Amino acid sequence: MSRYTQQTVVSKTNWLTDKLFSVTVTRDPDFSFLPGQFARLGLCVGDQQASNADAPPSPNEWRAYSMVSRPDANELEFYSVVVPDGKFSPALARLQVGEPLWIDKTVFGFLTLERFVDGEDLWLVATGTGLSAYLSMLRDPGTWTRFKRIILLHGVRNATELAYQDELIALTQRSANQGAQFIYLPVTSQEPLTCDLSPCIQPQRLNAARLTTLLVNGELEQRVGVALEPIRSRIMLCGNPAMVTEMRGLLSERGFAPGRRGVAGNLAVENYW
Ligand SMILES: Cc1cc2nc3c(=O)[nH]c(=O)nc-3n(C[C@H](O)[C@H](O)[C@H](O)COP(=O)(O)OP(=O)(O)OC[C@H]3O[C@@H](n4cnc5c(N)ncnc54)[C@H](O)[C@@H]3O)c2cc1C
Ligand SMILES: NC(=O)c1ccc[n+]([C@@H]2O[C@H](COP(=O)([O-])OP(=O)(O)OC[C@H]3O[C@@H](n4cnc5c(N)ncnc54)[C@H](OP(=O)(O)O)[C@@H]3O)[C@@H](O)[C@H]2O)c1
Repeated sequence: MSRYTQQTVVSKTNWLTDKLFSVTVTRDPDFSFLPGQFARLGLCVGDQQASNADAPPSPNEWRAYSMVSRPDANELEFYSVVVPDGKFSPALARLQVGEPLWIDKTVFGFLTLERFVDGEDLWLVATGTGLSAYLSMLRDPGTWTRFKRIILLHGVRNATELAYQDELIALTQRSANQGAQFIYLPVTSQEPLTCDLSPCIQPQRLNAARLTTLLVNGELEQRVGVALEPIRSRIMLCGNPAMVTEMRGLLSERGFAPGRRGVAGNLAVENYW
């Protein structure tokens, strides 16, 4: 029996030409996952197919991708960067509606809310496409019943890379009805950002910075308007491994630690490369 299924692209969204896009594909009815988990996606890349013209296509490159969709969605959505010299992401970006994408039947990953005991505040910290895993959580109604506040920090280079922003802004406005307050804080590292979102009361021009710098100088909590405290905060880190390592070090000095030996922690992390 095959370890993967063949699915079909049903739609694509271009967020930033040659850099950021999403792809939505059909879903196998037996494929189930928790928000924050990832799948292995397969593609036929290179001239492998040309040399076996009569054989049915079979994937030869596989990469991990977090599910963006809510867990009960009929289709599966993935959000991707295009790594210019990458083997996989440019081929994924070229896929057209109707073309096949293969998905491993096994799901992976521990960046899930099951890692935490309930707390007051859930902090979701992403750089770049690390946002993917959190979108699934935010789209899942179950997430909203567990915390009083959900805070999403999204660090990108430029404002043009703030994908899914309309959905996230709409969520800040709707969140009171969902059971928890939602605070969305985009942060740009290469240019200042004009911010007229929650938690900014007046539109503000925010200096360019990395999330780590803002945590160290206290501006992160100031911009969010909430203190990050180990007793009541649960925090996830996802995306660039250098960010994850640095942030994890800073948080450990403040009393945050992953769970171990069956004891739930207040920190969970996922590296994207
Ligand atoms: C658990 C897990 C979940 C992942 N989920 C996603 C996801 O939801 N969306 C996504 O775009 N990627 C995700 N990735 C990364 C993805 O698996 C591929 O690495 C990526 O698509 C690039 O593939 P590639 O063959 O083009 O380049 P690769 O040869 O795989 O990577 C080359 C280099 O590109 C850079 N790079 C790789 N991935 C990224 C990225 N996401 N953002 C910025 N720089 C990157 C790194 O410097 C890396 O060394 C995930 C990785 C892991 C381990
Ligand atoms: N967009 C571009 O201009 C550009 C340029 C070169 C390459 N690329 C390609 O784009 C891919 C990168 O994609 P990306 O921009 O989404 O991801 P990224 O490089 O991980 O950057 C996303 C965000 O993470 C920040 N960051 C990086 N290291 C950090 C650390 N140690 N601590 C805290 N924050 C940190 C970056 O800040 P900084 O901006 O300060 O690094 C940026 O704000 C690469 O694979 C490359 O192929 C893009």
